[in-house]
Amino acid sequence: MSIQFRPITPIIGAEVDGVDLREPLTPAQADIIHAGMDRYAVLVFHNEPITNEQHMAFTLALGALETTQKNAMRSSTGDYRLPESFNDVSNLDRNNKPYARDDRKRLFAIGNRLWHSDSSFKVIPAKYSLLRAVRTPSRGGNTEFAHMGAAYDALDEDTKTLIEPLICEHSQLFSRDLIGFREFTDEERVRFAPVRQRLVRTHPGNGRKSVYLSSHAGTIVGWQLPEARLLLRDLTEHATQREFVYSHKWRPGDLVMWDNRQTMHRGRPFPPEEARDVRRTTIAGHAPTVEQQEAVAA
Ligand code: OGA
Ligand code: MN
Repeated sequence: MSIQFRPITPIIGAEVDGVDLREPLTPAQADIIHAGMDRYAVLVFHNEPITNEQHMAFTLALGALETTQKNAMRSSTGDYRLPESFNDVSNLDRNNKPYARDDRKRLFAIGNRLWHSDSSFKVIPAKYSLLRAVRTPSRGGNTEFAHMGAAYDALDEDTKTLIEPLICEHSQLFSRDLIGFREFTDEERVRFAPVRQRLVRTHPGNGRKSVYLSSHAGTIVGWQLPEARLLLRDLTEHATQREFVYSHKWRPGDLVMWDNRQTMHRGRPFPPEEARDVRRTTIAGHAPTVEQQEAVAA
């Protein structure tokens, strides 16, 4: 059976039929999936109860893994439940128990309920993320995706001209500050030092411009902070209007893959005492979106 895409909304997302994620992907199938990602930005595979190994094999057939820092907080405490090549996006500790409500790792992790693009705080940000659901809560816990190419197209010409040359700084310190999570060690402050990203980027696969927004974006180079924050907030509000959004309701055995170069996403709340076991692999991007600042001699 050949691969088929069923569009989910007119703007974003498609369900995929005709691939069995337990089987090795052929190069021809990989090409079709890349083309589907360029076109739909989010691909949904249902009823794929695969193992971690099969999830990883599917990922590697589509590109090289992002090898930099995976689990921002788990890594410092060694609280691993999954192979280190995975991002553990669950709310579970290494004994598969939901974290206590006040656990610092949980409070840091729920920052992903703010709209963001994965690894925008890294010099070379992520290309694709592949998230698979193993256990889902009784209610809530959707993941929402917004199309940043469609959001760019809908901007007025003055705004397009204004933002075209702008460079932002992104850091997990900025996104966590938005939810009042501010206690960081000196080591974390160094690890989370800001990186630069263009605010308007062009997609290498489809040539489309998009607004490169993320809750990690906290400053615009050369701008006063209040003006920068207000512009970023206005753009984010614009870009996450319902017409640009697909909200994915998870079922165990779903795998959802998104293109971080043309989307933002966010998790939604769910009962904290319930288990939500979701596991992510991440495919590395190819290049920085902009040159980094020269290191300044002290
Ligand atoms: C992610 C993420 C949100 C969610 O996996 O990168 O942001 O709904 N997930 O779990
Ligand atoms: Mn994410």
